[in-house]
Amino acid sequence: MPISDLGLDKTLAALGVAQASQVPALFAEVRAHFEGHFKTVHDESEWKMFRDRWLGRKSGVLTQITENWLKPATPELKRAVGASLNELRAYVETQIEARRTAIESGAEEAALARGRIDLSLPGVIRPVGSRHLIRQVFQEIEDIFFSIGFSIVEGPEIETPYYNFEALNIPEFHPVRDDMDTFYIDLPKGAPGQLLLRTHTSPMQIRTMEKRKPPVRIIVPGKVYRRDNPDATHSFIFHQVEGLAVDSDITFCDFTGTIEYFVKQFFGPSVKTRFRPSYFPFTEPSVEFDVSCPFCSGTGSSAGGGTCSKCKGAAWIELFGAGMVDPAVYGFVNYDAKKVSGFAFGMGVDRLAMLKYGIDDIQVFFQNDVRFLRQFP
Ligand code: DAH
Repeated sequence: MPISDLGLDKTLAALGVAQASQVPALFAEVRAHFEGHFKTVHDESEWKMFRDRWLGRKSGVLTQITENWLKPATPELKRAVGASLNELRAYVETQIEARRTAIESGAEEAALARGRIDLSLPGVIRPVGSRHLIRQVFQEIEDIFFSIGFSIVEGPEIETPYYNFEALNIPEFHPVRDDMDTFYIDLPKGAPGQLLLRTHTSPMQIRTMEKRKPPVRIIVPGKVYRRDNPDATHSFIFHQVEGLAVDSDITFCDFTGTIEYFVKQFFGPSVKTRFRPSYFPFTEPSVEFDVSCPFCSGTGSSAGGGTCSKCKGAAWIELFGAGMVDPAVYGFVNYDAKKVSGFAFGMGVDRLAMLKYGIDDIQVFFQNDVRFLRQFP
């Protein structure tokens, strides 16, 4: 039935409705009409047209009913028409609103379905880099010392001469300063004191002892700098791990036992160690630790019969410096040299990495050529 058949443009009198009892049937027809059309409303534009058709202020169905049926109705009919109209309005409004929500969420679902990601597809593989060999060796060293009770501390790469030299018992004009010539920072005129790039990680011995009472067991991984010309074994930047153990009863045996344990863990149980007297201003006695050459298994000769090219036939390779902490150093940190004792060591990480992994040029660590880096995933 077309909507025009409902007689919305006529008054009730013109439609021949004179009694209140006729009103409900009239509204039932309107409602049936609503329902018939409502079924066909599926998308937003249909919904808008439908809404205007029924709720439009000027000529919507409900407005027409108000204008043509309700307002001109006789007082006897007005009551019944008003009640039915209110009921119809409530019904129409809630139905239309509910349909709007349904259409909106349906549209959302459809959009989601369109953009749905197929998680079963293989992903894009992004190559993940790996740790630099130096970083890996740092980690190996740290793990070994960590497992025997050392903790790890780090410190500034820009240091004062006091921490880099003086407090380590290296006064100004001491000849060992020549070995550690370094880069000084240009400071503005009038700046208090000098600053330099640390030549070793040993300053952290002092910084740590200043802050902590014994016992102290630390290792200090980090970068160091020296004014060296680059060649196969020298670089102006390289890496060290400093070690320090100070307590009330640390002996030379603790010292050699700890170092030997480290060396065997790092290179494998078959290497032998030895130490030779040496000199460092901050240790007394001082030693140089050697390891039996890992390349020729300490024989000094190569597999082919000639001399081993790595240890040059010496069978031993110099590893690092170490010693018992010089009592003078305790004076700089207010430790009582009569009550404490300890040992210290300082190893070159680049050198250890070269020995362990058979690398013959320190420069490859800094060139970052992926053909080199990829060999150590
Ligand atoms: N700081 C020394 C250097 O860079 C290495 C060193 C030697 C550190 C002996 C120590 C030590 O702690 O006891 O050459």
